[in-house]
Amino acid sequence: MKEAIERIMAELADLKAATQKEAEEARVRFLGKKGEVTALMEQFRSIAPELKREYGQKLNELKKYTQAKIEELKAAADASAVASGAPKEDLSMPGDAFPLGSRHPVSIVRQQIVDIFRKFGYDVAEGPEIEDDYHVFEALNFPPNHPAREMQDTFFVSTGHVNPLLLRTHTSSVQVRTMETQDVPIRVVCPGRVFRNEAISARAHCIFHQVEGLYIDKDVTFADLKQAILLFAREMFGPDTQIRMRPSYFPFTEPSAEVDVSCNICKGKGCNICKGTGWLEIMGCGMVDPNVLKASGIDPSKYSGFAFGMGVERIAMLKWQVNDLRHYFENDMRFLSEFATATEV
Ligand code: DAH
Repeated sequence: MKEAIERIMAELADLKAATQKEAEEARVRFLGKKGEVTALMEQFRSIAPELKREYGQKLNELKKYTQAKIEELKAAADASAVASGAPKEDLSMPGDAFPLGSRHPVSIVRQQIVDIFRKFGYDVAEGPEIEDDYHVFEALNFPPNHPAREMQDTFFVSTGHVNPLLLRTHTSSVQVRTMETQDVPIRVVCPGRVFRNEAISARAHCIFHQVEGLYIDKDVTFADLKQAILLFAREMFGPDTQIRMRPSYFPFTEPSAEVDVSCNICKGKGCNICKGTGWLEIMGCGMVDPNVLKASGIDPSKYSGFAFGMGVERIAMLKWQVNDLRHYFENDMRFLSEFATATEV
């Protein structure tokens, strides 16, 4: 038995394992059920009692040494696998979940508005953000000295010549471009960014989003306008929504109106969101002024049409009662993640 112990000790001292598999094979060879060390332990039971003390100690040492050696081989095999670049992970394991982003609340509402009008048969039209004075003002019947053209409102890109370049102050410019390039009948919505030289506050921002609408055909009347807006309001704010129209003025529409929807928070009773009136303003609209049709080559004696324009942030504020515009532009993740589960139409 003595020789056997010494032989195993010597063999263990030189033992190497390049991989986990080899280390495991070594464990089975020495410590497994039929392993060499296990076999010696069994022999020990039948040796002479006077030898038990001496061999008991030796065998215990052998067992401990073998166990330590196997652990060492396993650790060394791991380290060499990492060093050689062989994957240590189980590649068949499912991957870790990573946090998904969500759409921006302004994008969600813009898409909802566009989708509602698409269902009514409207196409989508887009136009440039850097526009000229002609498409933003002149073709829309703004008188030459209208205050909207002034430096206080408009960001000019170039000044001094007849048709300066500027950042569009509304998406109504896309109406003009559509009328110039498409044949009547026209039915489009025009979503986009607009720019105004305003101080940033809870209620105003220098960049925001609008959706413009335009419908031109034979015999389009104010009743058609009213019906289109009523259907839109009910899709957007719920089937019980009421609308009211107040006379207003825009250079490009005649007659013009501002549209209010019944407050969906207090159901018209009056609350702090609707300032006690029961109504919330959502857009401007009107019948396209004959001068606007003429400027873009459409004969106002044959065709008529309506137009409307709304602020996307304004609709989002009413939908979600977030009453500080700045939240929509600061990209604070705590705010944005609130909308991760917002439903889309
Ligand atoms: N362009 C207007 C604005 O920016 C909104 C608007 C009002 C658009 C009436 C229209 C309209 O097409 O008919 O405030």
